[in-house]
Amino acid sequence: MAATDLERFSNEEKRNLSLGGHVGFDSLPDQLVSKSVTQGFSFNILCVGETGIGKSTLMNTLFNTTFETEEASHYESAVRLRPRTYDLQESNVHLKLTIVDAVGFGDQINKDESYRPIVEYIDTQFENYLQEELKIRRSLFNYHDTRIHVCLYFITPTGHSLKSLDLVTMKKLDSKVNIIPIIAKADTISKSELHKFKIKIMSELVSNGVQIYQFPTDDEAVAEINSAMNAHLPFAVVGSTEEVKVGNKLVRARQYPWGVVQVENESHCDFVKLREMLIRVNMEDLREQTHTRHYELYRRCKLEEMGFKDTDPDNQPFSLQETYETKRKEFLGELQKKEEEMRQMFVNKVKETEAELKEKERELHEKFEHLKRIHQEEKRKVEEKRRELEEEMNTFNRRKVAVETLQSQSLQATSQQPLKKDKDKKNFFSLPTACSITSGRYVN
Ligand code: GTP
Ligand code: MG
Repeated sequence: MAATDLERFSNEEKRNLSLGGHVGFDSLPDQLVSKSVTQGFSFNILCVGETGIGKSTLMNTLFNTTFETEEASHYESAVRLRPRTYDLQESNVHLKLTIVDAVGFGDQINKDESYRPIVEYIDTQFENYLQEELKIRRSLFNYHDTRIHVCLYFITPTGHSLKSLDLVTMKKLDSKVNIIPIIAKADTISKSELHKFKIKIMSELVSNGVQIYQFPTDDEAVAEINSAMNAHLPFAVVGSTEEVKVGNKLVRARQYPWGVVQVENESHCDFVKLREMLIRVNMEDLREQTHTRHYELYRRCKLEEMGFKDTDPDNQPFSLQETYETKRKEFLGELQKKEEEMRQMFVNKVKETEAELKEKERELHEKFEHLKRIHQEEKRKVEEKRRELEEEMNTFNRRKVAVETLQSQSLQATSQQPLKKDKDKKNFFSLPTACSITSGRYVN
């Protein structure tokens, strides 16, 4: 089909047709429900609040069960995230619930970095999901989605205002997770103080630009209740799994010497409102918002960081294939540049080594020549000495012969003229001393 035909076709208005009888696609929503029920759901809650603020009690109260709970120590050197996953079932619906506790939150003397492990944990879950999505063989169908769907932020019931730790942490988290702020242990604060406290908290959140989760009002079925509940934020809650008899009914409550605080009594606290909003009305919206808003933002930033773009510099659509090709070219160019640099470096190194070797060779040659000269000089001197000594030896031998001749003559003369003997003897002993010393050396 030519491009113009395609354009005309897509611009054409869609026509409404009526069906002659029952076809059956009206069962699509049921098919969807059935598929979802078979598949099961996952929901992940992050609890952020000071140690002992009532996080575990509230979770137990919300899901009407007893999760594993162990008291956190107040001596944690840093905040650490502790996820625990449970399989819950209500009617035929399976829910894989993960509760993540920010253990040790608010216990360090220096709280500057308290938010960091929480942010890192949330990002890691996004990253795991992204990696699964980017796989060639994806298995998102049975992938255990650990992305945090909601962060319940437990505010200490001081009645004053938010702490800077609360503001900093919520600000760091608000673009990554749906935050529902709640005032914990609301039974410790009086009714009039609670009202003022709620107003103060909301104005502080607004003035610090902290975006908390707003219950959606675009779906007509829940718009009214959600907008009414938005006005009640932050919810002031009381948690308890203890059952107390009120009238002739057993209710979950906290019992005090002066009376009973009923968890599910809306005039005592906002627990029911929280349960209604979190579980019964907006659980799916929280899951959806996590995927379409927070995860989408993470994914976009991450892909942009990796160099992927939807449009080219001229604002023209840019396909993944084109991005890949451009990146590949860029990468290959860089690789070639690096290769060339390395080759050049290698050549330089070889040249340097060669020059060094040549220099060493020259030095060795010079040394050799020098030693050769010294050797020749020594040899010359030894030769000279030898000549001198030979001369001396010859002189000595000549003298020796002379002496021997003289001796034999004197012996002859003695036999003939005994009187001349003394005179000859005297002559013999008057030979130079140097001669006798040298002769001694030669005898040896
Ligand atoms: P860690 O996990 O150790 O940080 O504590 P936590 O935040 O899970 O608190 P937990 O639920 O263990 O509760 C701590 C104490 O607070 C317990 O003694 C609870 O009974 C009490 N508590 C819990 N919820 C409330 C509440 O709503 N009001 C009051 N007054 N006390 C509460
Ligand atoms: Mg706990």
